[in-house]
Amino acid sequence: MTRVFSGVKPTGHLTLGNYLGAIRQWAAVDQHRSDALFCVVDLHALTVDHDPARVRRLSRQAATLLLAAGLDPQLCTLFVQSHVDEHARLSYVLECVATDGEMRRMIQYKEKAARERERGGSVRLSLLTYPVLMAADILAYGTDEVPVGDDQTQHVELARDLAVRFNQRYGHTFVVPKATRPPVASRVMNLQDPMSKMGKSDDSGSGIVYLLDEPDVVRKKVMRAVTDSGRDVVYDPEGRPGVANLLEILAACTGGNPGALGGVYESYGALKKDTADAVVEVLKPVQARHKELCADPVYVEGVLRDGAEKARAMARPTVDAAYRAIGLLEPSSDPVAEPVLNAAR
Ligand code: TYM
Repeated sequence: MTRVFSGVKPTGHLTLGNYLGAIRQWAAVDQHRSDALFCVVDLHALTVDHDPARVRRLSRQAATLLLAAGLDPQLCTLFVQSHVDEHARLSYVLECVATDGEMRRMIQYKEKAARERERGGSVRLSLLTYPVLMAADILAYGTDEVPVGDDQTQHVELARDLAVRFNQRYGHTFVVPKATRPPVASRVMNLQDPMSKMGKSDDSGSGIVYLLDEPDVVRKKVMRAVTDSGRDVVYDPEGRPGVANLLEILAACTGGNPGALGGVYESYGALKKDTADAVVEVLKPVQARHKELCADPVYVEGVLRDGAEKARAMARPTVDAAYRAIGLLEPSSDPVAEPVLNAAR
């Protein structure tokens, strides 16, 4: 059976971009057709300036929202990254296969590091090595497919490169994974700045629809979306990025095709109204289920505990194999091994 792995980083409240670009696909498709693991990747949230209490809160919220979005613990494994030591264990070994040049070429590193420096802050070393930890997340599970939004393509490519390089140097150990993307809305853009991705850690909330936004807030944000100078509604991501973004969102929410939907509308106002309604409808059941789950934190904790146990058992053999392959001595449970070692010294 195909093994699928993906994750969300608890650095902010989850957005419509996270949902349409990744999570919805995990719930509707991936967990049904594959052996799937989904992870709240909390270690990754420590790569930028963070508040410990907020990361804890957001991790719990992300896990609850993933369940609310339809992940079913009977069908998939849901867990928190820091509960499974294998991720950090493997990450170090992969750092010994990756190069610093490779890390410095990562687009997200370049953008985030530049932003941090502009603010006068310092860049954490973990921001540079982050893609290696992400590769470890993926490779530890023998993952075949990684369902992600467009922005993660380069990171999954790196995981592929590291798997191939490790296998060539040290013997076949890792499955070489590939990224999969949703057919539409693989890059939902910020409603106020359609040239930038809708990102959960961005400062301004007015262009970002959060999964837990109330319906009237969603409507306000969509109705105020920046559109383009033309008047006719056509799907042209390069020439009309604002309108194209709304068409993508509408298509993703209603199951349509953004190009075909373009011909249906005569005004930006009508397009915005239908898009707002469609987003509200898509978020309604997620928000209702989220409310129920918040009333039952013990259930959520139980899911995460069981998930971590299952994940640990799946990752351990692969990470142990990588340790052996790269030349690390196996810990011995055999008491005679110790004098032999001493004798050889
Ligand atoms: P993160 O937390 O930024 O995003 C989680 C998922 O949501 C997708 N996504 C989007 N899709 C469409 N439009 C958007 N505006 C948008 N914003 C986010 C992301 O592509 C992602 O699929 N590095 C990862 C987390 C991670 C991971 C992993 C993913 C860590 N280890 C291993 C897969 C496998 C990240 O920061 O995602």
